[in-house]
Formats: sequence, C-alpha cells, structure tokens
Amino acid sequence: EKGGYKHFMLKEIHEQPRAIADTIRGRVLPDGSEVVYKELGIRFEELALTRKIYLVACGTSYHACLIGKYMIENIAKTPVETDIASEFRYRNVPFEQDSLFIAITQSGETADTLAALRFAKKSGVKTLAICNVVGSTASREADGVFYTHSGPEIGVASTKAFTTQIVALYLLTLALAKAKGLLVEQSYISFLRNLLMLPRMAEEALKLENRIQQLAKEVYRKPNFLYLGRGLCYPVALEGALKLKEISYIHAEGYAAGEMKHGPIALVEEGFPVVFIVSDDFYLDKTLSNMEEIKARDGFIITISDSKKEKLKKLSDRFIYVEGIHTYLNTVLFSIPLQLLAYHVAVLRGCDVDQPRNLAKSVTVE
Ligand code: F6R
Repeated sequence: EKGGYKHFMLKEIHEQPRAIADTIRGRVLPDGSEVVYKELGIRFEELALTRKIYLVACGTSYHACLIGKYMIENIAKTPVETDIASEFRYRNVPFEQDSLFIAITQSGETADTLAALRFAKKSGVKTLAICNVVGSTASREADGVFYTHSGPEIGVASTKAFTTQIVALYLLTLALAKAKGLLVEQSYISFLRNLLMLPRMAEEALKLENRIQQLAKEVYRKPNFLYLGRGLCYPVALEGALKLKEISYIHAEGYAAGEMKHGPIALVEEGFPVVFIVSDDFYLDKTLSNMEEIKARDGFIITISDSKKEKLKKLSDRFIYVEGIHTYLNTVLFSIPLQLLAYHVAVLRGCDVDQPRNLAKSVTVE
C-alpha cells in the first residue's frame, strides 16, 4: 500500500508530479488556452465583480492561503484578506459587498474552517471550498467547490495536498484575472504554459533527494531552525518550518526575512541553522542583505534557490539549486526539498513520520 516506500509521507512527496498533473487536468483545455470555470459555481460575470476575497484555513492550508494572497493581489489585482480559521470564526468580520469567501481544507472536515465557512454563508457571502476529499462536509456546504485531485493523503503531515492547493489557487487567480479583463491573451497563455511545465519540474526537484538526505545527516541533531523568505517565499518558509517541527519535533520558526532583525536574529550564534528560501525575483537582493547579517553572526546558512548568483552561493554554507519556472510556481518547487529535509531529519531522529505524536489527520474539534 506504500508502493515500496518506507512511509506514506515519502510516497506522497513522490506522488506530487502526478497529483499536480491530475489537478491541472480538465481545468486547462488541451490547447492550453482556457481555464474551465463552470465547477466553481460562480458565473464569469459574477467573478468579474468580485471586489474582495477572504482566504481562510488552518495549518498548512493556511500557508496556501498566504501564497494565494500574493498571487491574487499581484495578478488579479483584487484585495485579499487571509486569516486562520480559529480566529476568523469569532471575529465578527463585517464583510464587504461583492466578496468571495474561500475556505481551503484538504479534509473538508476541520472544525474551525467549517465554522468560518458557515459564518460567511450566514452573512450572505458567496462561498467556495478548495478541498481534496470528495463529498466532505466543506465540499457539500460551500456554494462552489474546486477540488484538488491529489488523491488520498494518509501521512499526517500535508505534502501533496499543499502543493495542489497552490495549483488550485493559481488556476483560480487566472480565472479571476481573465474575468476582470486584466490579462491579455498572450500573458494568459504564458501563465498556463508555465503551469503545464510544473509536473515535470516537480519531478526534477525530487531528484534532489540524495543531496537533501546528505544535508539531513549534517543537521539532524540541531535543536533549533529558522526559515526565512520574502514575498512568495515567506509562506514557503512558514511551511518549511511547520513540516520540520511537526514530524521531527525540532523547534523551527518561519519568518518573513525582513522581520528577522525585529527579534529572531537574537537567536543566531555560531552554527545556528537558517534556511533561506530565495526566488530569482525582485526580492533577491533584499534577501541577500539578510543573509549577510546571518553570516556576520556565523549562522549556518542553507539556501534553497533557483538563482545562480555568485554572491548567493558565496554566502551559503550549503546551496541547493532548484530549477525554477517563475516566482509563483516556484513555491511548489521549493516546497519539495523542504518536505524532503523534514522527512529525512525526522527519520534520522527515529520519529514516527506518518503519525507524529499529538497530531490527527483531521481536526474535527476546535
Ligand atoms: C500540517 C497539517 C495541518 C493541516 C490542518 C488543516 O502538515 O497537515 O496543519 O494542514 O490541520 O487541515 P485541512 O486542510 O484538512 O483543513
């Protein structure tokens, strides 16, 4: 049942190219020119009028919300508010008109996420669920459902569910941008072409496993980790830290790299591991200056990046080059080595990777 893999988590990490391809299939016509909107349960005209989007979830799915915010605000020019479901549900949010509420939930059964969804519905807001489990409560209760077709996820730590949520958000962003008339045909097609490359590039990222395994051997005894990134790499850093802490029980924090000097840098001393996630985009130089500050304090810098910039390599104690596509989709590609790092560290520490202590696959109580 584990298909020759030692753990479900490892199997599910390796299933990502297939899971991503399945999530794209049927949403992009064979000529790569059109996203299918019908299943959203929202008419094209209605989508065009959307003035505000709320993205709400828990845990890893919340990190997907943050990635969605960057995508939707940048590409579809629509303001997005993100929140953790346990906070959102009790906040008495005064919804703005023409809003769309989106709950992201792998299981479709997370109590806080369902409560937030019900609150939005009761407030008369149009609701959508990005969901993996077919027929789950969220999928039945939301006005529309957009399924991630990642297949059953057994390992408690979310992997393929997360990366397919990013794919779903990307497709949704393009649909929204198109409905709003914000994308010329050419850039729309190039966004889709990039997406169609993703399964193959995810396959490439998986080939880093041996290197990551070696890296895990070097760092698995460290008691603390910091993960830093800017822009779209910030939520990836949060997710990298969550993966490590939940399965290896090593204390790990994810931070926006620019926030580092407002507190966390106090932790850094010789050999302190800091994982930098760096996309070859606008933020690169800014992140480099954060790396210099860690280097000056003798921290141990592990870099995950699609940039080959000399300075970046020089500042890094370990440099993991990941072939990138574009800053939006790199969130998926960079997540893969981070999942593998968490996995191999946890295995070296003798942890129960598929069923970490104190955790349940679906949290049906608040
Ligand atoms: C972490 C993890 C959890 C879930 C969270 C939400 O690896 O799996 O943080 O992401 O419990 O679950 P869903 O998406 O089912 O609502």
